[in-house]
Amino acid sequence: SDPLRLGIAGLGTVGVGVVRIIRQQAVLLEARTGRKITISAVSARSRGKDRGVSLKDYAWEDDPVALATRDDVDVFVELMGGEDGPAKAATEAALKVGKDVVTANKAMLAINGQALAELAEAEGRSLRYEAAVAGGIPVIKALMEGLAGNEITRVMGVMNGSCNYILTRMENSGKTYQEIFAEADGLGYLEADPQLDVGGIDAAHKLAILSAIAFGTKVDFDGIQLEGIERVSIEDIRAAADMGYKIKLLGVAQKTGRGLEQRMQPCLVPDTSPLGQLEGGTNMVVLEGDAVGQIVLRGAGAGEGPTASAVMADVCDIARGLRLPVFGQPATSLQTSTAAQSQTP
Ligand code: NAP
Ligand code: HSE
Repeated sequence: SDPLRLGIAGLGTVGVGVVRIIRQQAVLLEARTGRKITISAVSARSRGKDRGVSLKDYAWEDDPVALATRDDVDVFVELMGGEDGPAKAATEAALKVGKDVVTANKAMLAINGQALAELAEAEGRSLRYEAAVAGGIPVIKALMEGLAGNEITRVMGVMNGSCNYILTRMENSGKTYQEIFAEADGLGYLEADPQLDVGGIDAAHKLAILSAIAFGTKVDFDGIQLEGIERVSIEDIRAAADMGYKIKLLGVAQKTGRGLEQRMQPCLVPDTSPLGQLEGGTNMVVLEGDAVGQIVLRGAGAGEGPTASAVMADVCDIARGLRLPVFGQPATSLQTSTAAQSQTP
């Protein structure tokens, strides 16, 4: 059969990881999908930058929209980031000319996911985003496919590795939030805008996406009760430890009699529990279904390999011809959620 031809916009941490997998695992990818997976063209801001991977076989486009709409591109892979701007413009352009889209962009999906899902489905195209939530953990697949026979009762977890790193370093070192924040920033662990991490916004983007799939509701980022970790002091961490608890930036989404409750806040968790034992930059997502009970998924939530691994899962699904509604059911059938009123967790 014909090769599946990709156009990749964004050649940073994730984009380079995807190029590497496609170059290194060509034989395995073809065996698993029945199609060669090739790259036709790439795009990033600066053409001359050395990215540690050869790009000489691929056409270059300065403009992501031009890349997304090329005749020799079947799947537009959006790895630039940003809730709107070029990422959204190129995603829309790709869908409108009949391309499938794979993205890792949780900000774009959390803010503009409903409109993009309606567009993708109206055009009969796929819009896939496994990498957008919890990096290498296949949580979107778990919810949409593995647990398709369940009514999901609760989704919760630690979905931002940088915050978990800061909180566990504070516990282990006894240093203040400010000291460990500076350390994490120096190590390059934080987003270009660190507020996305420490303000809980990045984790809330991920929770909003999971909620939509789990509960059949429109993505409702604004409905999340949100508090970051900036006010967690070393005294809070010591007091929690004295009582046998850890402090985690925990996301919880569940349907209650008062509506959909979505919270992303620092919470106390027992230090012997799986969540309490979660160290460093790792993520953990706990899914609860009426038939299956509880499932715990744990793994790397960020970084080149894990995130590219998730992007490739979507690319392989498209190569195999698997078509799924963007949020697991038709976008036009998603309900508007009533946000539960604020309550102390
Ligand atoms: P990154 O390292 O900052 O790379 C972003 C890439 O996009 C760069 O190559 C940049 O070009 C390019 N770019 C930015 N604006 C552009 C524009 N206007 N036109 C063309 N190219 C543009 O970002 P990343 O960490 O790979 O993240 C990419 C996406 O994956 C984001 O949505 C992020 O939230 C998501 N994600 C990342 C991780 C992770 O661990 N890094 C995990 C999960 C999800 P230059 O290189 O020339 O500047
Ligand atoms: N800043 C994010 C995190 C990157 O620390 O989890 C992956 O989404």
